[in-house]
Order: sequence, then structure tokens, then C-alpha cells
Amino acid sequence: MSSVIKLKGKGLTRIIKSKVILSPLAGVTDKIFRKLVRRWAPDSLLFTEMINATSLKKGYGTGKIKQLELEEGPVGVQIFDNRPYAVSEAAKLAEDSGAFLIDINMGCPVKKISKKGGGSALIKDRLLAIELVKRVSKAVEIPITVKTRLGWDNKEENIEEFLLNLQDSGATMVTIHGRTRKEGFAGTADWEMIGKIKKLLEIPVIANGDIKNPKDALNCFNQTNADGLMIGRGILGSPWKIGEIDYAIKKQKGFKEPNIEERLLLIIEHLDELIKEKGDHGLLIARKHISWTCKNFSGATKLRNNLVRAIDAEEVKELINKTIESLKTDQKLLA
Ligand SMILES: Cc1cc2nc3c(=O)[nH]c(=O)nc-3n(C[C@H](O)[C@H](O)[C@H](O)COP(=O)(O)O)c2cc1C
Repeated sequence: MSSVIKLKGKGLTRIIKSKVILSPLAGVTDKIFRKLVRRWAPDSLLFTEMINATSLKKGYGTGKIKQLELEEGPVGVQIFDNRPYAVSEAAKLAEDSGAFLIDINMGCPVKKISKKGGGSALIKDRLLAIELVKRVSKAVEIPITVKTRLGWDNKEENIEEFLLNLQDSGATMVTIHGRTRKEGFAGTADWEMIGKIKKLLEIPVIANGDIKNPKDALNCFNQTNADGLMIGRGILGSPWKIGEIDYAIKKQKGFKEPNIEERLLLIIEHLDELIKEKGDHGLLIARKHISWTCKNFSGATKLRNNLVRAIDAEEVKELINKTIESLKTDQKLLA
């Protein structure tokens, strides 16, 4: 099996040197978070949050695609919308800003989006989905990819035919979350079905759903023979996870997971960046990252509760520094 993922765009071929990809995660995968993830994953494709094409055209959300060319590795821009013209225009803006590729969201189950015909609603409106891929492929030189699910209501909807049509229309890679829209996040992702789809398609197939650690990743590769894996919830609170999984599938030894002190210092670093970029609002964003990061060590729950109630960044830092000191005294800074 090749150790890279090759995407043949209209105008150019893109090579992704890692098989582990960061999911687009709304409210999470902003530029600041991507910078943390990148520290452990220099070669991985990292995604922006999903961006609405119509809003982008009107000038909203442009910060999400700003200066992507300055980031240290490949960044894919994910767009959601059901208007081919708007998606093409947004894709062009993202390409000009340094996007490595454009992904069209055909999987988001959120009602607010699917009611307007975007996200997973495109699984039902297949002609429009095809039109979107064709139009966007014409508009830009960089590769177009699609992220979708196994069906709208059930798995008997011939998603295979849908994906073959998208492939014929110009999609250069497809990521499949192994659940239907109706399933949301319930049950377990169906890797077996992703494996069946992988056999049918010529373009790279990326498996997604329930891959949280190196063991899951190896199992998923074995079951699906996919060209790559996409990690979503597994990254929350563990920005090193993509790097850790990449290490494991390359059979490299000696990945060093950050210890508790390093994780706590990561919270401070992340918070500082957020405050620098977004002012006081940065603390609100930091709170959810704090909840995800501050776990799995003795005293984590109490500290977490105090941290999310802290009224400013200074209090957060003080609490963390005190904890580090007391952990050091108690010699609880486990490797
Ligand atoms: C907080 C959160 C935000 C998400 N935002 C997006 C998004 O913007 N675009 C998208 O295609 N999927 C989005 N997803 C779905 C994930 O990309 C992924 O497909 C899903 O979580 C399954 O993968 P996992 O089991 O590794 O989490 C989101 C999921 C979560 C939990």
C-alpha cells in the first residue's frame, strides 16, 4: 500500500505525506487549534471548520480562510452550501488564500443546514451534488473532495452509485463517516461498509468514525483497506493524537505523549493565543478546550471545575501553575 495519498486535481496533483487527517470540526479546528495539532503532525492534512459559501461571498467568515499559505503544512477548506455558483466563488477565494484542496460537505446532519439543502441533504439531491462537484472542479485548479455519510435514512440507498457519480464528476477523494444521517453519532461506525466502497472506487477513500487511538486506527485500516483515516472527536483535548496515530501506523516507535504538566502548560499556551486573537471572548472558547484537556489524572475533575469558572485568564494561569507545583511536590507528574 502506498505511504502517501495522491490527489489528481484538474490543474495539479497534490500529495499528502501522511495517511492521518484532521476532521473539519465546527467551533474547534480554527487556525490556533490547527497550529497546536501541527506541532505533532507536520505532514497531515488539517481541515478548517466548515464554512458557508454564501456567507463567505458576502464577506462573513473570511478570517477562517485567511493566509492559509502561511501555515506550515497542507490545509483543506471545507465548504457547505447548496448553491453551485456560491460554492464555486467561495472555492476560488479559498484557493487564492492558499487552500491545499476544497472539500464539499455532504454529510452534516444538523437540521439548520440540511433543511436549506446543504450538508447531508445532498445525499438525497444527487443531481445537485453532482452539479456542485462539476462546477467547483471547473472553477479551481486544486483538487475537490467530498465528505459524506453512508446514507440519509438507511444504508439501502445505493450510496455506492452516488459516490461513483461523484468520482466521475471530478471528486478526487472521498471521506466516508460510517454512519447514516439518521444515525447521527449513535451506535458504531460501519467500517465494513466503508471497506466495500473502497473496493469500488478508483479515487482515494478516507475512513472516518470512531477512530480514537492507534489501536482503532490499525483495526480500521485492516477492515477497510482505506487510503487514509480521518480523526474527529479523538483530537478533542489531545492535539497530539493525529501525530500519535501517524507514528503508530508508520510503525515508528517512541512517540512521546505530553505528560500532565505539559498538557496543563498547553492549556495556558492555547488560552494566550486565543486571547491575543479574540480578546476576552478567547476565554469562552478556551473553556471547552479546558474541559476536554483537563481529564484523566488525579484531581482533574476538581481542577476542571475551577478552571471553567475562572473569571479571567490570569486566574486560569494561577490555578494551573499552583496545580503543577503541587503535582511536582507529590511527584504525580506521570510520564
Ligand atoms: C464538534 C464537532 C464539530 C464537527 N464539525 C464538522 C464540520 O464542520 N464538518 C464536517 O464535515 N463534519 C463535522 N463534524 C463531524 C466530524 O468531522 C466527523 O465526521 C465525526 O465526528 C465522526 O468522526 P469521529 O468519530 O472521529 O469523531 C463535527 C463533529 C463534531 C463532534
